[in-house]
Amino acid sequence: MGRAVMRLILSILILMPMLASAAGQWNLSDVCPAGFRPEQGRCYLQSLYGDYASLQDSGVGGLKTGLPPLREGFTPQQIDLGRLMFFDPLLSGDGTLACSSCHQPSKGFADGRGYSVGINGQLAHRSAPSLWNVGFLKRLFWDARASSLEEQMEGPLYSPIEMGNSREQLLRSLQENAHYPNLFKQAFGDPDISLDRIYTAITAFEASLVSLNSRYDLYANGVHEVLNQDEIEGMNVFRSFVARCAECHTPPAFTNQQIAVIGAPEPEGRPLDSGVQGVSGDASQRGGFKVPTLRNIELSAPYMHSGRFETLREAAAFYTGGRGHAVPPGEKLSLHWHVWEPNLTDRELDLLVAFMKTLTDESFMPALPKAVPSGLNPVGVPASTTNNPDSGH
Ligand code: HEC
Ligand code: HEC
Repeated sequence: MGRAVMRLILSILILMPMLASAAGQWNLSDVCPAGFRPEQGRCYLQSLYGDYASLQDSGVGGLKTGLPPLREGFTPQQIDLGRLMFFDPLLSGDGTLACSSCHQPSKGFADGRGYSVGINGQLAHRSAPSLWNVGFLKRLFWDARASSLEEQMEGPLYSPIEMGNSREQLLRSLQENAHYPNLFKQAFGDPDISLDRIYTAITAFEASLVSLNSRYDLYANGVHEVLNQDEIEGMNVFRSFVARCAECHTPPAFTNQQIAVIGAPEPEGRPLDSGVQGVSGDASQRGGFKVPTLRNIELSAPYMHSGRFETLREAAAFYTGGRGHAVPPGEKLSLHWHVWEPNLTDRELDLLVAFMKTLTDESFMPALPKAVPSGLNPVGVPASTTNNPDSGH
């Protein structure tokens, strides 16, 4: 379709809600999301882990270790504005994709695919990670190439194979929209729309996606009867010096935020992904990736940077396949010394899976918008709830 025709269709679509919602004004929430307490108009996480001493100095991380610092201190209005933009396909070059296309709430804020699908059906080079607890991470992307959520976002927004937008079009489309200037006024005090404000609001929303109320957390905070015998045994395998999972997937974040070369395979026929080496140039980081969190891991199959493993069982079994067993011939990777030959039994693998499933918790799932300010259909929200601009706010 020609660009001019697309623009025309877009502007018609953009006019529709102005007619439809003449009655309704968009108002941003003035209460903090679930799990956050207000303090002088800003939202701060409330968590039992806040009471525990600092983290990860103690090796594998005891049950009562603290959390890494969260990006917090945003206003309820900023978080809510970010929520609307996250689901609004107005943010993409052709009005078809939103962040939520590849980070779908119903799929653990991932997309259920090996490789994500971007604008015009193009495939991304890696699998979309879950966004649960992303506000705790110091480095982002599988290869850790971004050091803040704001910096990360410039990737998908302007990538010609993901959202395919430009800075100019992004700003213009929000500024010319009937509702966004007023929403930015509610969130930032005046109707000015800048890239920084867009990034701040979306960051505020992402950092509100906190998952710390799983059955594991209840157990860690003293409610011991919530885990059954298999799950407790699975936790012990996970934390053991044989399996060593917790050395890298360290509780309570279930990542130590380090880079590790573990030698996970690519899908059949795909060349090795150089990982962190592609960013740092350091040959010892060839095939190295950021240790991902295992929070809500049950929801975000398939697994690894390439989505190579369909199930948690396969992902767990990888670790006992023998050190370097999946490294392509001719490649020399500096495998991490904690990836070795634990010789886990079938039963131990089952127990590990049972344990990883205790990390599931979506109790702070944000409200999914039934409509977004552009009047386009919000993406990643079940269809039965969309297309009804009057009930969205
Ligand atoms: C076309 C699919 C697609 C869209 C649209 C998309 N993402 Fe992603 N996202 C991905 C993929 C794939 C990765 C991993 C890329 C990599 O690591 O190289 C990723 C990575 C991320 C990460 C890093 C998470 C981590 O653990 O390191 C964040 C945060 C993120 N996306 C947020 C967003 C936001 C915010 C938007 C909207 C502005 C967005 N994404 C739009 C596919 C997408
Ligand atoms: C040396 C550090 C290290 C150890 C030890 C380790 N992992 Fe990992 N784990 C990683 C890294 C790095 C990745 C991402 C690798 C990739 O995508 O290629 C990963 C990925 C995973 C994934 C997929 C996550 C996702 O979002 O797709 C699962 C599941 C997992 N590990 C479970 C385990 C289990 C179970 C153990 C113990 C048997 C374990 N890990 C031991 C570093 C480690």
